[in-house]
Amino acid sequence: MNTLSQEKINEIRNSVNIVDVISSYIPLTPKGKNFFGVCPFHDDTNPSMSVSPSRQIYKCFSCGATGTVFKFIMDYENISFMEAVKKVANLGGVSVNIGKVQKKQKHTELHQIYDLSLKFYINNLNLAKGKEAREYLKKRNINEDVIKEFQIGLALKKDTLSKILIQKFKPEDVLKSGLIGKNDYGYYDLFYERIMFPLYDLDGNPVAYSGRIYNREDNSKYFNTRETEIFKKGELLYNYHRAKDDARRKNKVIIMEGFMDVIRAYTVGIKNVVATMGTAVTDIQAKLIKRMAKEVILCFDGDEAGAKATMACSNELIKIGVTPKVVRLEDDLDPDEYIQKYGKDSFQRKIDNPISVMDFKLSYLKVGKDLTSSTDQAKYIKELISELNKIDDDILKDLTIKKVSVEMNIDESLIRNHLEKKKVNHTLKKIKPIATTNKYEKAESSLVYYMLKSPEVITMYSNKVTYIPNKEYRMLAREINNFYKNFGFINEADFIDYIECDSELMETINKINRENTKETYTLEEIEDYINVIRDYNVQEEIKRLTNKMKNLTDPLDKAKIAEEIVGLKKGV
Ligand code: CTP
Ligand code: MN
Repeated sequence: MNTLSQEKINEIRNSVNIVDVISSYIPLTPKGKNFFGVCPFHDDTNPSMSVSPSRQIYKCFSCGATGTVFKFIMDYENISFMEAVKKVANLGGVSVNIGKVQKKQKHTELHQIYDLSLKFYINNLNLAKGKEAREYLKKRNINEDVIKEFQIGLALKKDTLSKILIQKFKPEDVLKSGLIGKNDYGYYDLFYERIMFPLYDLDGNPVAYSGRIYNREDNSKYFNTRETEIFKKGELLYNYHRAKDDARRKNKVIIMEGFMDVIRAYTVGIKNVVATMGTAVTDIQAKLIKRMAKEVILCFDGDEAGAKATMACSNELIKIGVTPKVVRLEDDLDPDEYIQKYGKDSFQRKIDNPISVMDFKLSYLKVGKDLTSSTDQAKYIKELISELNKIDDDILKDLTIKKVSVEMNIDESLIRNHLEKKKVNHTLKKIKPIATTNKYEKAESSLVYYMLKSPEVITMYSNKVTYIPNKEYRMLAREINNFYKNFGFINEADFIDYIECDSELMETINKINRENTKETYTLEEIEDYINVIRDYNVQEEIKRLTNKMKNLTDPLDKAKIAEEIVGLKKGV
């Protein structure tokens, strides 16, 4: 699968300095031999990530994230190992011929079903029967180019797609796709007479549809694919794959509610936009947004529901340390309607002049209150204090307090006295304690940790350890041992590239880096780890034999095993 040799990958990695590359994503400050920044891979505001120019790796002391320049780009941009290698090669001016870079996600049967269904729906829109739908789109100002770009299609009769799919794919896969149902009469399409908007995963593969009615009455304006193996609504953002580069360039991302809004904005040239698609923003989506750009602008529908959603989404973002800005549209308009009514420039001005999230909250909290009544005044101030306690931004906090004290004619100290003490880095607390590991696991983790640093420890492992009980540590130890056998040295950066940032192994590496912090070891310590592991294996073997013995009837057999057990116990 990897078309590049280890040497080539090495060359590419060495063509750039990890510090330069990472600092183009997050600010880094030098401190001693290393550079430090706020880790983008967990919720944090402290500079827990260290980047080492000499070792060409980064490491987060809080969440344990580790890797080389490739791994950083992979995780930051959500791309595959090979895509990251290609990017770095470009940066370093190394010419490579990787051909068509593989997409991160494996192309499963379900993906193929979606690829085929997409072609089918797109084709339908051009048929004579698609006239009504085409007219609907035209009426909505969605032209040919937009239809092409967003791969808009059409579902017509109830049984046409199912016929095609069932010929080509296994019935169970077809049913798993969420496109087809089955009853006594056979298979049938779940989508019919709807304009089909494909929804994509983060890599841009179509994995679901939102189908809009255009020619009939129906309870729901949109009908969406249910969740499947490849489609988890709460884990993606509409238009993410198209928007991410522009968002990064501008360091600004705009969040909307509906995909029609995004399509409109994108069409008029505002490309750093994604949509949450009408549901409450999840923690995963908030984290995706955080990674897209530093400045986050919420531009939801102008109606009351939109205001409520702005409130919910901003709180989800604030939880992970992002203080968004807010744009509110007049007359209950949504961005799509606003752009069509007032034009791109007017909308762009709105985006360029967002209000602070606290200003938004101030006006939101006033809705439905009579601020001449002292009951409502007290309620307003209390709610406001609760909102102030959520944000980390001290300056914004201060400005808001000043504003409100003037507005409500109360003393600033009244508000300040009710503010909670600054939280002691909640995220660190959340991540650090790993489920209390027992001494066996601790020994395994430490042994593998030092294997990654020293050939001496690898040799001790290969001479003395027959079996590591925990699968994850066992797999990692094996890979390290293989690497050392192949190349005759060990170095974390090279090893990580060698395993191509395999996600399970990386997970284990992160874990051992969280559990172990000491750089140096003594031989006694290593011996000790090995003995603990051996002890564990012996105990397990004794358990196994004891069980076996219980089930035996022949006294001779029993005696034989008893002897074995005694032997094992002596050895301990
Ligand atoms: N939505 C949905 N099902 C519905 C209504 C809405 O899944 N019955 C989702 C869609 O993803 C939609 C988003 O919520 O993009 C926002 O809803 P809404 O504002 O009602 O949609 P619009 O973008 O205004 O769509 P249109 O202009 O086509 O009416
Ligand atoms: Mn709309």
